[in-house]
Amino acid sequence: MTKDQALKILDELGNSPNMVKHALACGFVMRALARKLITHLSELKTAEDDWELVGLLHDADYEMTNKSLDLHTEETTKKLKELDVDQSIIDAIHGHCDKTPRETLMAKAIYACDELTGLIVACALVQPEKKLQFVKVESVLKKFKDKSFAVGASRDEIKTCESELNILLEEFIGIALKAMQEHSDELGL
Ligand SMILES: [Fe+2]
Repeated sequence: MTKDQALKILDELGNSPNMVKHALACGFVMRALARKLITHLSELKTAEDDWELVGLLHDADYEMTNKSLDLHTEETTKKLKELDVDQSIIDAIHGHCDKTPRETLMAKAIYACDELTGLIVACALVQPEKKLQFVKVESVLKKFKDKSFAVGASRDEIKTCESELNILLEEFIGIALKAMQEHSDELGL
């Protein structure tokens, strides 16, 4: 499955521009996390592509299923099965909303970075320039600790970067922020 096919699914399932940006952001961060966590070079190329697909598609039917947790991921799964994608991709997508145990690094990575991308976007938007390039790791870390800021971004989920991925929070924020800054044009920030 290619990135273009994933973007086509996002379109077919009627995603809003903001949701597409969330998908793109998670895809960029997942690709960066694959580079950090996959140690066997021979596996990296496929892993980077697969991890990005998980980032792109994990919420693909979130809006069309009206945010119903029961239905969420089911429409996406149907599409992915038609395209015969690897089961590990489907499992990681199910795992991000607790429908399947998160057994692979890919599944653990989307769980940890999903909410962080939202926190980083919120950090960009509170600045006068509203630009990712002005966001610093320290300011994201500070906002992470401020429980009244972006309350929807689950700190517990983000914090699993340490317990499940063995990446310290500060480094994790740095990887995600850099990946998003490198694609700020596509993210419109
Ligand atoms: Fe998400």
